[in-house]
Amino acid sequence: MGCENTTTDGAVGSHAVFVDSVLQSMTLEDKVGEMTQLTLGAIGVGKPYKLVEPQRLDTAKAYDALVTNRVGSVLNCGNHEHTPEKWHEFIAGIQHYAQQKESKIPVLYGVDAIHGPTYTTNAVLVPQQIGLAATWNEDLVRENAENTAAQIFGCGIPWNFSPVLDLGRDPRWPRFWETFGEDPLLASRMGVAMVEGYQNGEVPIAATLKHFFGYGFTLSGNDRTPAWIPERELREYFLPSFKAAIDAGAMSIMVNSGEINGIPVHTNKWMLTDLLRDELGFEGVVVTDWEDVKYLYTRHMVAKDYKEATRMSIEAGIDMCMVPLDFGFTEALLALVREGSISESRIDESVRRILVMKKQLGLFETGGMPPALEDYPNREEFEDDAAQAALESITLLKNEGQNVVDPVQPVLPLGKSGKLFVTGPTAHSLNALNGGWTGTWQGRDTVYNTPGMPHLVEALSNRFGIKRVVSEKLAMDFETAEIDRVIRAIEQTRPDYVVLALGEMPYTEIPGNDEDLALFGNQKALIRAVHKMGLPTIGVFIEGRPRTFDDVEPFMDAIVMAYLPGDFGGDAIAQVLEGSYNPSGRLPFTWPRHPSSHVTYDHKHTEEIGTDFYTNGFNPQYSFSHGLSYSSVEVTDLRLEQTSYDMGDTIHLMVGLTNVGDRITNELVCVFSQDSVASITPSVDRLRYFDRVMVGPRESMSLSVSLPVEELSFINAALQEVVEPGAFSLRVGSKTVAFNVNE
Ligand code: BGC
Repeated sequence: MGCENTTTDGAVGSHAVFVDSVLQSMTLEDKVGEMTQLTLGAIGVGKPYKLVEPQRLDTAKAYDALVTNRVGSVLNCGNHEHTPEKWHEFIAGIQHYAQQKESKIPVLYGVDAIHGPTYTTNAVLVPQQIGLAATWNEDLVRENAENTAAQIFGCGIPWNFSPVLDLGRDPRWPRFWETFGEDPLLASRMGVAMVEGYQNGEVPIAATLKHFFGYGFTLSGNDRTPAWIPERELREYFLPSFKAAIDAGAMSIMVNSGEINGIPVHTNKWMLTDLLRDELGFEGVVVTDWEDVKYLYTRHMVAKDYKEATRMSIEAGIDMCMVPLDFGFTEALLALVREGSISESRIDESVRRILVMKKQLGLFETGGMPPALEDYPNREEFEDDAAQAALESITLLKNEGQNVVDPVQPVLPLGKSGKLFVTGPTAHSLNALNGGWTGTWQGRDTVYNTPGMPHLVEALSNRFGIKRVVSEKLAMDFETAEIDRVIRAIEQTRPDYVVLALGEMPYTEIPGNDEDLALFGNQKALIRAVHKMGLPTIGVFIEGRPRTFDDVEPFMDAIVMAYLPGDFGGDAIAQVLEGSYNPSGRLPFTWPRHPSSHVTYDHKHTEEIGTDFYTNGFNPQYSFSHGLSYSSVEVTDLRLEQTSYDMGDTIHLMVGLTNVGDRITNELVCVFSQDSVASITPSVDRLRYFDRVMVGPRESMSLSVSLPVEELSFINAALQEVVEPGAFSLRVGSKTVAFNVNE
């Protein structure tokens, strides 16, 4: 099977003749069927959300959907993961039905394999996107995406609903962890790498950019609730990651389920056609999100019935509807075309795109049949990349206190001696390490944990030896009264260190809405109680969003953010604590100090005015890009070869770095720009460039950075991307250099 990049000249065009000939032979019913996507639950034995186990296709339902109604696409998993064998049975079964319809067009199967093949038994699970972003390592993102592609294609699935290119600018949003963090440049570069990994690897599949767009920045912080985002801000912050991934050739896009400025995005023609098609030149397939056409009349109340909702979404520009349980969309669309409200040529546009995608994925050649089961890849091939990603994501936020072996050193790394007492609600949970979309949608069912993969306590015991690790279990909702039990156990054990595994249990979407961003009260009480014992204490956060904990921060000597690092996360944390790996993760977001102070690093100057008008009111717990290593690398020099540039010039910046410690360090170099005066209030800082460099022990080196003047741009009030002449500066670490951009 091969799949071709839509941007390479003529890739879509080269299929035009074939696709047009298929299209010409199709009836209206065939075409509307192609635009319909159902979930596996709708064609399995049992009820959609409660299929009979072992799951199998229901002959009557499958025939009705795939032959009578000619449904062109099926998604998802029927509520839980499956073995590759089971996937083969499903996919082959579905394609068998597809062959019975007149057109014989194969079905396009799609799934959410968002951090590795999340719905395949024993697949290699990688960190969730927020952790991948913390690696700031595009190669790792690309390689892991390629590995995911090989595994899901091995199951017979050629379409992945990934990556999420919404920004994570509000940690209250329950899908914050599905993003690459708060910055447009970081999300763009990571997003492109992921798309390339899925689509351009040895076993290519189709990527889906989701959720187009502005989905993650709602007023309430809750999922699928109203966002008010002016067009200028949409273009400045939320569009670049999608644009970059479209330019990289992404084959499909999923629509934002929410509303922007009062208009549900599924009805927004400006977004889905004028901007996406006409301006960005996207040629691929636009798929709705789950049940979102129906929600136009059941939730958003902008349509009176299914038919009106269908007409609105088609007029806005969708190609395929993730219905996903019935034929309401199919019937409504047929009626709309028959009565003349929607033209058949409009239907042809969408069907053509769907057929091109099927052709690009090779479905017409293979009939969409899964490859031979014997060719299903061996998981060992992919484990190192996933483990490396987990390792590079772990972010050391604080390292103070005293090491028991060498009291002049901070508490970490722990090294080869000392006894650990490990407790906290995420210490004994592989689910906590993996997060949502793991085995099941919410990722909470322990039955689907990958056999043999360790949770944190097991991983620490493996690495430190069981004699050095003592643990006490706590459930996520433990009562504060249970803290006494933990304290007694610590007293009996007399450990050298206490490791507190804190954070959250998995969630996503609406079930993850939360009223309070603060770390749960019982966890704070645990930290306070342990602190009273006077032992060196290490806090490890295993969570998808930065929960606030300022009041208990002083009570932990060292603090590590693990995000949702996946199956290899336990060992990655253990290696960082031990010191066999020198931590290199850096925060892809700003960590707020208080639940209502989630202000991003690229805030405006007015956001720095403190209540006394004197102190800096922007005072996060940890800054964007913060992260420590066991050796610190200092920016010793920052130089420009000239101080005045014309438009069209490239700025050459020299960054001097010195590793003041004894360990080789994988350092992140970020270049932030400051625009002194601009017609749109300038941000205090904007990330313009980043790179990782290895700096040897005590080594000094210089890095040369090239930055086109154009990349200092912003979107002005007339919605143009501009660089306004005047005074600018660039900052790396604590060093800044000034220059001028001429008229
Ligand atoms: C989510 C999407 C996902 C889709 C299919 C929706 O609820 O918002 O991100 O791809 O379900 O599972």
